[in-house]
Amino acid sequence: TRQHRITLLPGDGIGPEILAVTVDVLKVIGKQFDLNFEFTEALIGGAAIDATGNPLPEETLKICRNSDAVLLAAIGGYKWDNLPRHQRPETGLLGIRAGLGLFANLRPATILPQLIDASTLKREVVEGVDIMVVRELTGGIYFGQPKGIFETESGEKRGVNTMAYTESEIDRIAQIGFETAQKRRGKLCSVDKANVLDVSQLWRDRVTLMAEKYPDVELSHLYVDNAAMQLVRNPKQFDTIVTGNLFGDILSDAAAMLTGSIGMLPSASLGSDGPGLFEPVHGSAPDIAGLDKANPLAQVLSAAMMLKYGLNEPEAADQIEQAVLAVLEKGYRTGDIMSEGMTLVGCKGMGEVLINVLESLQG
Ligand code: NAD
Ligand code: IPM
Ligand code: MN
Repeated sequence: TRQHRITLLPGDGIGPEILAVTVDVLKVIGKQFDLNFEFTEALIGGAAIDATGNPLPEETLKICRNSDAVLLAAIGGYKWDNLPRHQRPETGLLGIRAGLGLFANLRPATILPQLIDASTLKREVVEGVDIMVVRELTGGIYFGQPKGIFETESGEKRGVNTMAYTESEIDRIAQIGFETAQKRRGKLCSVDKANVLDVSQLWRDRVTLMAEKYPDVELSHLYVDNAAMQLVRNPKQFDTIVTGNLFGDILSDAAAMLTGSIGMLPSASLGSDGPGLFEPVHGSAPDIAGLDKANPLAQVLSAAMMLKYGLNEPEAADQIEQAVLAVLEKGYRTGDIMSEGMTLVGCKGMGEVLINVLESLQG
């Protein structure tokens, strides 16, 4: 029996609903693969603000650091949108990424054949798309100084954020980009805005320099505006994309939609040591929270990424992915991926059919 300590962070909105389904799935997987999961729940986001006044209590960070992996659902909601910045749920999320040193965020966008009709794009555009977005997660404009709302001499307010990257910050994410491309189809596209931004010029120079070490990887560069357009025009041209924090945030939502729904997309956030954090790309979806309508599959697939990238249990990860494909093959759909002739289920219902399928598979 292998032991894995997992911190669960349900957060807000649909977070607790999708995480409950995922924990049920993990319990079955644990039995099948003889894994002993020890779950510890902790507070983050709005839930943590309500309980402690702080979106990321010190206790939460401590529990995370003491575990082998962190499984996060989502944070945020209308209730907390008008609090000062340091008390907002989003600040808790940025804090945990920085606090655990998770500079590399892997966001795969894979088109599942069963869901092609759920995409808003034409079949011939999306069929076969398989993209990995490598997003820098602890730097750039999300963290650069100075930042804040300041008063000018004329008494007017001025909002400031700073997009900044050091060479070492660029190098370590570029390295992940090249290594990821090497393990995939050998193509890396670096996305920046070097035609306008100095920070992007440095980014492009460092990525270009690093390419010398990876002669087997074909490197290209795109400006972010063109990259957004190309993702929708012809997504099949992309294999691995490496980019900064803000551009990666935006492009990964766009890439998500190629797959039919953001409710399908998992992610892995990794550092150079310590536990990784695994979370869906989507947010807390306050518009459907509490209605049993959320698609839990992004969360379930995030647990698969946890098993693969965080806990070195690739067979268990595969089993989860197979089960997801099987329930889609059987025609079960939550509202966000519904199409004609399919069977509509809620969040819980999707969990039940997943468990049924899993129990019919061999460990
Ligand atoms: P969102 O991703 O929460 O929702 C966007 C749209 O997608 C909504 O219509 C929502 O209903 C739908 N959607 C998202 N996930 C879904 C799922 N699993 N199943 C079905 N439909 C789903 O983005 P938003 O509305 O811009 O943000 C809502 C809140 O979430 C904000 O407070 C934001 O800051 C936060 N947020 C958190 C994270 C995170 O925790 N990692 C990520 C993004 C946004
Ligand atoms: C994401 C989210 C977060 C981000 C927010 C909620 C801080 O949009 O994980 O993609 O911008 O990184
Ligand atoms: Mn986002």
